Amino acid sequence: MSSVLIKNAQIITMNSREEIIHGDLYIEDDIIKQVGGDLGSETDQVIDAKNKTVIPGFIQTHIHLCQTLFRGQADDLELMDWLQKKIWPLEASHDEESSYYSAMLGLGELIQSGTTTIVDMETVNHADAAFQAMAESGIRCLSGKVMMDMGDDIPELLKEDTAKSIQQSVDLLEKWHQYDNGRIQYAFCPRFVVSCTEELLTAVRDLSKYYNVKVHTHASENRGEIKIVEMQRGMRNVVYLDKLGLANENLILAHCVWLDDEEKRIIKERGIKMSHCPGSNLKLASGIADIPDMLDMDANISLGADGAPCNNNLDMFNEMRLASLIQKPKHGPTAMDARSVFRMATIGGAKAVGMADQIGSIEVGKKADIAILDLFKFHTYPSYDVDPISRIVYSATRADVDTTIINGKIVMEKSNVKTINKELVLHEANKSIKRLLKRIPSIAKV
Ligand code: GUN
Ligand code: FE
Repeated sequence: MSSVLIKNAQIITMNSREEIIHGDLYIEDDIIKQVGGDLGSETDQVIDAKNKTVIPGFIQTHIHLCQTLFRGQADDLELMDWLQKKIWPLEASHDEESSYYSAMLGLGELIQSGTTTIVDMETVNHADAAFQAMAESGIRCLSGKVMMDMGDDIPELLKEDTAKSIQQSVDLLEKWHQYDNGRIQYAFCPRFVVSCTEELLTAVRDLSKYYNVKVHTHASENRGEIKIVEMQRGMRNVVYLDKLGLANENLILAHCVWLDDEEKRIIKERGIKMSHCPGSNLKLASGIADIPDMLDMDANISLGADGAPCNNNLDMFNEMRLASLIQKPKHGPTAMDARSVFRMATIGGAKAVGMADQIGSIEVGKKADIAILDLFKFHTYPSYDVDPISRIVYSATRADVDTTIINGKIVMEKSNVKTINKELVLHEANKSIKRLLKRIPSIAKV
């Protein structure tokens, strides 16, 4: 048995009463055993959290670890050009080693900025190497290989045979689903309607039901994408997914920037989990999702940074700040206050992954997924009479994350990620992207 005692902290619980308390927090193995009060000091590891703030670890519900190596390679493009001219050729050029280091680079960034759970979408090939990286890093995750069996301008190496795509997904599921007592889970990842046949999508529907796993895909991100879907399928994304029987509580839908009223109603009524990606939606010029409207409808909304080449960070502090600020000019200053955004980043994410009884808040009996922030800084003071959640959403940055604990394990301490060799990963990241770019001279910059 291992134990961790965090002493003298300000604890932002995000329990149902959203209590903020001062005191200690005791963890045994992977579980939070006690919250609040003075709990002594008789444990393996004691963390002095005087002047520090303990929060539930962030849950990012839309990430592409396979794209982290492409940071800076695909700036200033709209979605379909971004995919066809840059991202698909780059993904096609991946090998096992580059997939592993792409994942490790992203995981280092995520853990260092206090993210403890991700919903990740890998590329067509080499997803096994990314799972290996996720296993070693200690992150909690739902991930799967992307599936794409139709579409224009797709490189040969990404073009999948339908049956093979399904078989490879099931093989990965059999290998990785429930790894390390459920820390890793499999999710089926059809890329988006544009690149998936109806045969593939209906198979995914049946398999997700059979294995009781999530389906993670993109929808209604960009107006050009929606036009293609309307031409191909004769209807809009969410209506089509509903017609196929994919619109249910196991569906995690990234973006949803351009929804009509019928699609909004389907999302709410079917319990679809919407992953809002404000940074990516701005950088790809996709638009601004109508989140205040969806929150009024009581839809489940969570946050994700998407991939490094369309953001270009995997930083929940950025996403929270943007999620709040971008709505204010249109909806007024009280729209998307700090608390609404912080809920989306924590308990909203936990609901999205179907784990609200296990993560997303600091409560006795829940998994110990926690970030400790050092807000004793010029940029976060004064603290007197300031709402602690306002300090986190509007003033703090990822550099304020001191410690990250996932599944009861201290994976980062004093801002050093213990499960990932930073020097090696940065060096290998450069080596890998250099190798990949050599394989695709047509997109290399001069
Ligand atoms: N739509 C289909 N694939 C992708 C992707 O990789 N990233 C984003 N942002 N949107 C997509
Ligand atoms: Fe995406």
